[in-house]
Amino acid sequence: MFEHLPRYAGDPILGLMSDFFADPRIDKVNLGVGIYYDELGQVPLLDCVAQAEQVVVSEHKPRSYLPMEGESAYRALVHQLIFADSLDKRHFGTSIVQTVGGSGALKVGADFLRTAWPGSEVWVSDPTWDNHLGIFEGAGLKVNRYPYYDPATQAFDYEGALAVFKSIPVRSIVLLHPCCHNPTGIQPTREQWIELLDALQSREAIPFLDIAYQGFGQGLDDDAWVIRECAHRGMEFLVSSSFSKTFSLYGERVGALSVVSRIHDADLVFGQLKLSVRRNYSSPPIFGAALVARVLGTPALRQLWESELATMRSRIVKMRAQLVDGLSKLMPERDFSFLQRQEGMFAYTGLSAAQVRALKTDHGVYAVETGRICIAGLNPHNISRVCAAFATVMRSA
Ligand code: LMR
Repeated sequence: MFEHLPRYAGDPILGLMSDFFADPRIDKVNLGVGIYYDELGQVPLLDCVAQAEQVVVSEHKPRSYLPMEGESAYRALVHQLIFADSLDKRHFGTSIVQTVGGSGALKVGADFLRTAWPGSEVWVSDPTWDNHLGIFEGAGLKVNRYPYYDPATQAFDYEGALAVFKSIPVRSIVLLHPCCHNPTGIQPTREQWIELLDALQSREAIPFLDIAYQGFGQGLDDDAWVIRECAHRGMEFLVSSSFSKTFSLYGERVGALSVVSRIHDADLVFGQLKLSVRRNYSSPPIFGAALVARVLGTPALRQLWESELATMRSRIVKMRAQLVDGLSKLMPERDFSFLQRQEGMFAYTGLSAAQVRALKTDHGVYAVETGRICIAGLNPHNISRVCAAFATVMRSA
């Protein structure tokens, strides 16, 4: 019955996690998946989450179905976090649905767009998070790439991206990373964003902004700047967001999809989003979103969360600096300053697939084959070993 099925090659990121856990070496280092680990190499349970959990559990609430769109307090708090006061509420409405993580938001959004604009194609940055391709193609949309990373300069290919944005077919769907680009960590400047958005507006493009790391780059508001700029401009667009990393709630799958539309279309949009949710998973789960809503909606917990988020952000910045420093000391002939110009959880090292394989096999250091590493997997105990392993594989190339 099933022998004709193609063998699944495994996921390039999640597959690495299984390999890592199966590796018996005690000094192995996981720089593959985008998970924030603390100084001791543990996935933290944030204090604000632990406190919210106690309150939520003590309430012993029944577990009926949530509505298709999710819990309303959660949705309102997500709206405030992402958009602040950037929308002109007289003319624009936001339809928000709680989703099963950021991936769920992308899938609900992709299905929605396939219905709304069946003739449109999607444009994603080259490179992008691998699953962007999978999710949009899985929803039946054709996916194209726009230039993003220039290997020669190890920087953003601004001219290349702008040229494509100016010439894409009208009503194309364009996937953007408002902060902490996954996988490169490279962001356009604000001046560049303005030109890029001008070009997209001139093509009546439909921006789809994927923000999975709000607060891991420059800060909560700065990281949402592009989204708010789209709102100020009176654009109509989609935003997928996630609390996996920023609340360390990976396994709870807490995300949201927001669609900004003209106010008189908001009801139509909201209905289609609910339909998309119903067809995918009916309604979202309760617990993770209840924790997030409790933290965001309680001033003391919200303050605690912001300080814990700042601690995670500054630890990442510190480890990035130590990586650059360590590599520069071991290989003074090379310039590693490009790593310092990247932001967020990831560094795009420029390592080849063969070098990444050697890192894993010979040194027990796990990275994604594209050369992406998760900086948040580095800590004071493994940084010198990782730098030494990098130097060995880089020299042997
Ligand atoms: C990543 O990019 O490593 C994370 O977003 C986890 C995932 O689902 O791929």
